[in-house]
Amino acid sequence: MNNIPMHVSLIMDGNGRWAKERGMDRFYGHIEGVESVRACVEAAALAGVKYLSVYAFSEENWNRPQEEVASLMGLMVKAMAAEMDRLDSNGVRFMVIGNRDRLDAELNSVIDSCMERTASNSGLTLIVFLSYSGKWDILQAAKKMVSEALASGDSAESILSMPLEGFDSYLSTAGIPDPDLIIRTSGESRLSNYLLWQGAYSELLFVDTLWPDFRKDEFNSALEEYAKRDRRYGKVK
Ligand code: IPE
Ligand code: IPE
Ligand code: MG
Repeated sequence: MNNIPMHVSLIMDGNGRWAKERGMDRFYGHIEGVESVRACVEAAALAGVKYLSVYAFSEENWNRPQEEVASLMGLMVKAMAAEMDRLDSNGVRFMVIGNRDRLDAELNSVIDSCMERTASNSGLTLIVFLSYSGKWDILQAAKKMVSEALASGDSAESILSMPLEGFDSYLSTAGIPDPDLIIRTSGESRLSNYLLWQGAYSELLFVDTLWPDFRKDEFNSALEEYAKRDRRYGKVK
């Protein structure tokens, strides 16, 4: 396949509706959704995608019923622990990005050990956005940039004239290329506070498939759709 995106990002939506359609609790949709992540990781690696990221839990998702939040956090711990051997032996580098201050100690420690274990792997990079919000990211980047400048004694004038270039290095995604393609499942056409800065020139693809049904074929179809897009970046071609 030609024109393979370097970074594909998935807004995994529709787990609750998938379960509801089957008369099951929302939680079963989340469990089944883990299988879709596995399928997409395999399809991405096979296609030559270098970075695959998934939006797993937004800052706003903390406002869901306490039981759902708790079961989702428990599922993250279980899924990471269960998948890590396979990911590591396939050379996958695993990362979690988001406001980790809000995660509990057990989850943070599983994340740390998975990240450390796979840090030097050179295959696909899998990034899980957890407790993430695009606005949070931009604000923390601005604060970091200013506090660094203040610490090195920069004048107010030089702080106020800081250029756009280099701002990326303060974002939580520093070093990761911006997503070429952002796919959202379940028929919703919105970003829900995801990668607001980094997605400035991403190709967007909204599909009706619910996340638990989004597997290898759906992923490959999305790559085919991307290959047809004409990215102009504001220029005339
Ligand atoms: C996506 O599925 C998973 C998370 C946001 C954690 P939802 O749980 O949002 O499922 P729907 O949108 O209610 O069907
Ligand atoms: C977006 O899904 C967040 C994730 C997929 C993690 P939501 O289901 O939370 O989004 P809204 O509430 O429909 O915008
Ligand atoms: Mg949803």
